[in-house]
Amino acid sequence: MTISTSNAESDIANASLAAGGVQRIEWAAREMPVLQQIRERFMRERPMDGVRIAGCLHVTTETANLMIALKEAGAEVRLAASNPLSTQDDVAAALSAEYGIPTYAIRGEDSTTYNRHLSQILEFDPHVTMDDGADLVALLHTTETARLKHVIGGTEETTTGVIRLRALASEGKLQYPIVAVNDAATKHFFDNRYGTGQSTLDGIIRATNVLLAGKTLVVAGYGWCGKGLAMRGAGMGAQIIVTEVDPLRALEAVMDGYRVMPIAEAAREGDIFVTVTGDMNVLDTTSFERMKSGAIMANSGHFDSEINLPALQGMTITKSQVRDFVEEYTLRDGRRLLVLAEGRLVNLGAAEGHPASVMDMSFANQALSAEYVSQEHSNLEPKVYNVPQGIDDGVAKLKLESMGVKIDTLTEEQKRYLNSWNLGT
Ligand code: ADE
Repeated sequence: MTISTSNAESDIANASLAAGGVQRIEWAAREMPVLQQIRERFMRERPMDGVRIAGCLHVTTETANLMIALKEAGAEVRLAASNPLSTQDDVAAALSAEYGIPTYAIRGEDSTTYNRHLSQILEFDPHVTMDDGADLVALLHTTETARLKHVIGGTEETTTGVIRLRALASEGKLQYPIVAVNDAATKHFFDNRYGTGQSTLDGIIRATNVLLAGKTLVVAGYGWCGKGLAMRGAGMGAQIIVTEVDPLRALEAVMDGYRVMPIAEAAREGDIFVTVTGDMNVLDTTSFERMKSGAIMANSGHFDSEINLPALQGMTITKSQVRDFVEEYTLRDGRRLLVLAEGRLVNLGAAEGHPASVMDMSFANQALSAEYVSQEHSNLEPKVYNVPQGIDDGVAKLKLESMGVKIDTLTEEQKRYLNSWNLGT
């Protein structure tokens, strides 16, 4: 439905869900103390007065708190979903109807609507883009290039997005500076590892109610997300098999105590398969041919390209929805394979994404990086930048403080020692 918000129209599923959305947004805020502190400073200082920010992010309670903080900083904000299936409709309703933030996101929207929503948040000619997966940047660099002249900088939330941006930059085509929020230590060490680890299992369990203990969980990809997932799966009693293409990561997985083998071998053994590689067709025909009947497949990588669903469909005689977020493919040989959340991000499709406490750090980095790029853009080139070290360190410090954890400080003697070369044995 279209409703009017500030001086724009929002496109959301149902405005009457707004009250419930507000309640859940406030609940998430309780677990986001770092972002709240930043928000309080933003309210006092209004460092982004008049800056137009277009956000293309998962529309969740945590994102809502980020958008609210940016608005308090004086920015004019618009938000669209970064995935057709991750939108929480009550949050979209609350943002547009209660917080005055034009929002364009409907859970389950088709790809035409998804793309239209991206175009709609560009209509006010943003100065700053805040992306999760680089779809907005891709749109600006292809069909919406006329709007590039207004853009001064951007931020990117996720590994896949940063990879795409680096590819764009390496072709010399990136038109404005973008801060790779994903690459901040206080983002990927925690969000990708503990966030994805927990929320992926949350999605699988909510969708299927499967018992993990005693099951064989195949984790495809041993980046930060795969590491977290394997760790959490093992913690719940699953036997872990890791598949990798990178020798170093494979070695890490072996020494972390997991079995490592090619996906085509793992296919015969797995009860549950999760892809977190960022690449395409990781689970493909050979794997489908070998899987046990009843095997569950899910994806927690950014795009829905990791499980080759067209290939699976080609081997299928009937497909049916057997539970919310669970589709059963019955193959010609009678085996039944289960796919969760249409092969899209299972943690956001079948659950609520990462918990607020970990998004607190990711979105503190986002808020501070948006402030940084707004203020420093004239000193930056059209490149992919790291989050300034001071921001990353500051987020870690504030998070620790909010958890009531104290740490030691170096003595002057210890500092001298660390800076010297002549003190050895
Ligand atoms: N990505 C993963 N979890 C998320 C969440 N809860 N909100 C926004 N983006 C996310």
